[in-house]
Amino acid sequence: MNYVQLEKLGEGTYATVYKGRSRLTNEIVALKDIHLDAEEGTPSTAIREISLMKELRHTNIVRLYDVIHTESKLMLVFEYMEQDLKRYMDMHGTRSALDPVTVRSFMFQLLKGTAFCHENRVLHRDLKPQNLLINKRGELKLADFGLARAFGIPVNTFSNEVVTLWYRAPDVLLGSRTYSTSIDIWSAGCIMAEMISGTPLFRGRDNNDQLNQIIRILGTPDEQTIKRILNDSPEIQNRQLPRMPGVPLQSIFPKVHPLALDLLDKLLKFDPTQRLSADEALRHPYFTTSAAVSQSYEGDYAQDATGGAQYGGTYAPQYAQQAAGAGAAGSAAPK
Ligand SMILES: Nc1ncnc2c1ncn2[C@@H]1O[C@H](COP(=O)(O)OP(=O)(O)O)[C@@H](O)[C@H]1O
Ligand SMILES: [Mg+2]
Repeated sequence: MNYVQLEKLGEGTYATVYKGRSRLTNEIVALKDIHLDAEEGTPSTAIREISLMKELRHTNIVRLYDVIHTESKLMLVFEYMEQDLKRYMDMHGTRSALDPVTVRSFMFQLLKGTAFCHENRVLHRDLKPQNLLINKRGELKLADFGLARAFGIPVNTFSNEVVTLWYRAPDVLLGSRTYSTSIDIWSAGCIMAEMISGTPLFRGRDNNDQLNQIIRILGTPDEQTIKRILNDSPEIQNRQLPRMPGVPLQSIFPKVHPLALDLLDKLLKFDPTQRLSADEALRHPYFTTSAAVSQSYEGDYAQDATGGAQYGGTYAPQYAQQAAGAGAAGSAAPK
């Protein structure tokens, strides 16, 4: 092999990732060793998916340089990135929450990469902090994609990392199989909330619990919405959803700029047809104006600080502290 395998970088659901060095150029790369089933070998869909990914070139998508495929091994050679977003938040965040400037920069890059995938008819399907990589220049890139689709969605097969439901859209949780680009938008919304607060927004234990947690915050979708979803995805079994009024995002994130919350609200729509597209999201005033990251914003909309406490206090107090801390370092560029 043309690469020297160095230390282990991460372990995912069906692969182990190592740091590597090219024997030819000395360039540092990431080597993703895909666990192959001895019996099954490599599914041809995987190969197809991977060749497609090789063509998918964009600043906000991790570059796939090479595919090494032998009888017993499938090794993908990627551009090297310093850390994933989860680790970044744990290391650089205040209780894992990022400052408003960084949140906006990362969201912009996440949506740019997602828009590019969608333009090229590629769905990521598994956007989450562990699958977003950050390099030392503060660039965020989508990683680990196409594979989820190619290999099916594995559940805790090769390592102890269980595939998470936390970023899964409600229509998918309800059983929709006609889902499209809107599922990635939902995940992007969940990731935005998590960067803001340092905590995943919906942390379900199982499919049903995940759906209930979503409904607890968004409220029960109205009749019209349910009808539309059932009409668009006839495979969904109609069932009674718990009746909940919902919690305004402002009360969960009292210190967050209203423009950020407005975008978040438009990404996290229960009805997939109501969610913004990645392109629309990029044209939202949260990005096109500097209002949401200006130093002068002191959380004028934060009068309702008790709202978070009423809701169990999971998010608001924590974020309030983060926001207070971010004031001083508010203009810091992504590290
Ligand atoms: N190009 C890369 N550079 C640096 N670290 C990486 C790279 N790709 C993956 N990793 C690390 O390895 C982990 C698992 O990789 P991933 O591609 O997500 O595999 P899996 O499909 O098994 O989840 C990531 O969460 C990340 O921490
Ligand atoms: Mg992964």
